Amino acid sequence: MGYTVTVVAPVNIAVIKYWGKRDEELILPLNDSVSATLDTSVMCAKTSVSAAPEFTEDVIWLNGKKESFSNKRLQNCLREVKERAAAEGSVDKNFLSWKVHVCSENNFPTAAGLASSAAGYACLVTALAKLYKVKTDVSSIARLGSGSACRSVYGGFVRWHAGSDPSGVDSIATQIASSTHWPEMRALILVVGDSKKKMSSTKGMKITTETSELLKHRIKHCVPERTTEITKAILARDFPKFAEITMKDSNQFHAVCLDSYPPFVYLTEVSHTIIELIHSYNEICRETKVAYTFDAGPNACLYMLESEVPKIFKIIKTIFPSSNPTKFISGLPINDADVSTDILGKLAVRTQEHDLIKYVIYTKVGEGPTDVLDGSHLLNELGEPINEIVE
Ligand code: DP6
Repeated sequence: MGYTVTVVAPVNIAVIKYWGKRDEELILPLNDSVSATLDTSVMCAKTSVSAAPEFTEDVIWLNGKKESFSNKRLQNCLREVKERAAAEGSVDKNFLSWKVHVCSENNFPTAAGLASSAAGYACLVTALAKLYKVKTDVSSIARLGSGSACRSVYGGFVRWHAGSDPSGVDSIATQIASSTHWPEMRALILVVGDSKKKMSSTKGMKITTETSELLKHRIKHCVPERTTEITKAILARDFPKFAEITMKDSNQFHAVCLDSYPPFVYLTEVSHTIIELIHSYNEICRETKVAYTFDAGPNACLYMLESEVPKIFKIIKTIFPSSNPTKFISGLPINDADVSTDILGKLAVRTQEHDLIKYVIYTKVGEGPTDVLDGSHLLNELGEPINEIVE
């Protein structure tokens, strides 16, 4: 039977947000964006792809369930990989005519504003590119699946260049710095809600592009300057600068959602309480020690240096108590810390009711997609999923 390739790919969380397209079909953005890629040992998508002459149709299983391959974005990714392979002459024509089976899993909630589509498409496209031995840049193929996916093709800190060519050739991702450049950088993801979001990114950015005046100002003036400044801050490992730009850009992204017509909101009261808490903590420290950023959902991603993590986690646990403390944290291990009652007393936010934050994931900046070489494929020798959920 067929030949199977398995890959794991990371999530990325933007610090300069992508919001708005100049071409919806090719997924070409209106502005550059910048993100950090997060460690696949904590959060990842895993995808197996297989091609065989016996397969009668292209099939995909997502988190154990068989789904339609008629999704246009999926088809665009597969077609583009095959066209590149044909142009590069990397595999023989017969192989290109075989149907594919794809099986993909995320180890974190799907579509909850936790960048699952980014990891998923980066994983699919990297696996297909390996199957068909494509050598050229895969970020522009991942982009056809979901814009933010093009940034998950690299590790470390990544910039997606909006580009200006109508064909999209120059709308690619490049690495600003590798995952080892700023080894102390950490992320705490505060999961406020993990149900599917009401307004998809795709639909939300269409409304914003069509109606927001503030978006025009953002694209013309704010993003170009912030992109240059945050790149410098990353290269110089200047945390306070990095953090300030990150928070301002997250706030402006949510402001353009509110400036859209009709308006929509992703942040909840809990998200706003987190924002207030972080500003209060930074003020007490008289230095910007922590940054928050929110994607198209209520969950916060807090960036900070490793030395701050025990203190911040202790504060989060105290302000947002959990009724299931042993399940509250996952990911990398965290040491316990004492936070002085003086700091706790000065915080502008008092202890909240239980379980407003469901759980916390502790992770760090990591590498791009990697091959799984231990044979733990998600498809068996017949090209069928090993863990299928039949409804
Ligand atoms: C708020 O990449 O999910 O996370 O290209 O329509 O699939 P599509 O959108 P998507 O948008 C992500 C938006 C964001 C900001 C970001 O990741 O830059």
